[in-house]
Amino acid sequence: MKNNTYSVLIKTSPSLALIKYWGKLPNKYNIPATTSLAVTLQGLRTETLMIRDGSGKLIIQENNDATHIEHNLADYVGILNRYSRISFMPDAYSINNFPTAAGIASSSSGYAALALGLLAFETQKTIQCAHLKSCLTEKKFLQNASRLARIGSVSASRAVYEGFTLLQRGAQYAEQLAPASFWDNLRIVIVIVSTRKKAVSSRNGMKLTEQTSPYYKAWIHDAKKLSQEALSAFGHKDLEKLGACMRASYLRMHGSAMAAGSPIIYWLPESLAVLHCAEALRKEGYSVWETMDAGPQVKLIYEEREEQQIIVRLKTMLEEYTVNSKGNFQFVFSRPGGKPELYCPDEAEQQAFLNTFKQ
Ligand code: PMV
Repeated sequence: MKNNTYSVLIKTSPSLALIKYWGKLPNKYNIPATTSLAVTLQGLRTETLMIRDGSGKLIIQENNDATHIEHNLADYVGILNRYSRISFMPDAYSINNFPTAAGIASSSSGYAALALGLLAFETQKTIQCAHLKSCLTEKKFLQNASRLARIGSVSASRAVYEGFTLLQRGAQYAEQLAPASFWDNLRIVIVIVSTRKKAVSSRNGMKLTEQTSPYYKAWIHDAKKLSQEALSAFGHKDLEKLGACMRASYLRMHGSAMAAGSPIIYWLPESLAVLHCAEALRKEGYSVWETMDAGPQVKLIYEEREEQQIIVRLKTMLEEYTVNSKGNFQFVFSRPGGKPELYCPDEAEQQAFLNTFKQ
């Protein structure tokens, strides 16, 4: 099998924040103003082929979708060059097996893949395919990749690690808090209420919040205590306590965004329906906790032993809603995991990958 040493395939998964990053430190580049605690999502995958010598194209496609969108990778490489030396200009082709830019943190897995690929090429002028795998076990390599990913999108700094991650306020890079095995009976369902691209990106949303929301300062102030409480609950695998922190985190983050000068409302009526279901399920005695990001989808967290009953009840409750409002809900099931992969594809694999982009 012949290895093409001028391309690498990178597989990454998105990072879902249980405790949110929302806001940047002033006069710094993409440094978070709040500490976030996150889980990398098993089964949701971004596969990126990076070709070392190109013209700075980034082509993104969703699985099962014939159309792809061209972005400018050269912009990202240009920004990275202010902080780190990248001495070449690649092309990258990326496929997500989940909706892009709809609030499932596709930018986190996307930039994590780009950063891992760029760093692999930059640290090994001629890629030694046999050594690539071991990069992912080197702490320094992952920290560097996390730092480069953060420059693209802050949440991406967490997605270079599997399992549970922490990105501290003011940090340049994220760290792994615990492997997925630490809490492997935790389960996540993403309730997709709309696959339309969001109207306000997280980047613009948080900028508007920082600049115009009277609640922004309060959010930042409160976030410190919340992240400490969440970390302690996480250490004890106490879902009730962690869940209460998660709920406070996303509601306060969204509260500050909704109060911006030009209000940012990511929620749809269907999102609200799911939030009410989560509340009703808790009243029925289930330990199920929701969170939301810069989009309308609702993510629910619970433990495996309650999954079946929770999903049956949730579907029944949402069916009642659907009858009245024609809402449509899709469920994507996940769990902690999402170990990144990095390897040299052989020619056949590379060609098959590229063929999916041909129309
Ligand atoms: O890193 P960005 O620009 O994609 O922003 C992520 C913001 C949230 O998803 C809302 C929170 C988070 O910590 O992931």
